[in-house]
Amino acid sequence: MIGIYSAPLEGITGFAYRNTHHAHFTGVGKYYTPFLAPNYTHNLKTREREDVAPSNNAGVPLVPQILSNRPEDFLWAAEELYALGYREINLNLGCPMPTVVKKGRGSGQLGDPEALDRFLEEICHGMDRLFGLEENISDPSAGMDKLRFSIKTRIGLDSADKAQELLEIYNRYPLCELIVHPRTQKDLYGGSPDLETFEMFLKAGTHPVVYNGDIFSVKDFERIRSRFPDCRTIMLGRGLIANPALAREAAGGSPLEKEELRRFHDAVLESLQATLPGKGPLLGKMKELWFYMGRNFSDADKYLKEIRKAKDLVRYRSAARMLFSQCDFV
Ligand SMILES: Cc1cc2nc3c(=O)[nH]c(=O)nc-3n(C[C@H](O)[C@H](O)[C@H](O)COP(=O)(O)O)c2cc1C
Repeated sequence: MIGIYSAPLEGITGFAYRNTHHAHFTGVGKYYTPFLAPNYTHNLKTREREDVAPSNNAGVPLVPQILSNRPEDFLWAAEELYALGYREINLNLGCPMPTVVKKGRGSGQLGDPEALDRFLEEICHGMDRLFGLEENISDPSAGMDKLRFSIKTRIGLDSADKAQELLEIYNRYPLCELIVHPRTQKDLYGGSPDLETFEMFLKAGTHPVVYNGDIFSVKDFERIRSRFPDCRTIMLGRGLIANPALAREAAGGSPLEKEELRRFHDAVLESLQATLPGKGPLLGKMKELWFYMGRNFSDADKYLKEIRKAKDLVRYRSAARMLFSQCDFV
């Protein structure tokens, strides 16, 4: 059986979205939080704290993600998450945003493999000392109180020249999984995923390797599966936001229907309304969702424009209602 994970998308896949998705759609084995970025103050932001609070995530298989290049901050966050009950955490070595990369975090850590190696050595020793690290993901009862640690990485900073060196480093640490988005930082989201380099990760990696990148349809999913039959897990990002039933479809289930997308949309809106402080962030998030979900409809430009322009909830709701009633699914 192929495993399917839901990728973290900062600004989109917060707890309200994840819970609603989990309640409405099957097929996702694990959800990842958008990155938590602890700093020297050793305080999580309110938004970050709420996003990982167990009371906000009941029943959802969740892996919190940390973005950090300072071992003491990373280990502080790992301890906080362990105390909350989490037994798996993920390190973000993929974020390509210039503000993050400039601070040497996310994919900014890929340009200096030696420093990355030192960082991983320190955090892995630290986690092993604090909780014990458990690599085995196939036996759910193995090392129940130990922590599992995975990495989500791109394949380099400005080129894939150091990809092999990076993989050799990852191979030395007790990771439960290595999630690879085969683009460099410089690529941002342009061009196509570098499947040759992904193949190298899959063949020479000693940990289970998860594929992530540009899967927008079942056809894309099948293409990756047939090219990499040894890859047992695939992570879906933007494609799953566009089509929230994509994991179900990829696992052989029924295709998305317009009516269920409408119900899901209404539930996300309600859930965000109950959890966000004001209408500004709420409208912003709904508009971002439509950036992806709009692709399901034909001749929807007029309504999508009205959604983008909506300054209040009344206008937003009316534009969304019109879109659902007037536009066909493609
Ligand atoms: C708006 C946005 C926010 C993202 N936030 C995160 C994040 O917080 N952590 C992370 O590891 N990746 C983040 N990513 C990257 C995605 O998780 C994923 O790796 C990337 O979109 C490629 O997969 P896809 O082609 O299936 O979308 C983000 C991507 C987008 C577009």
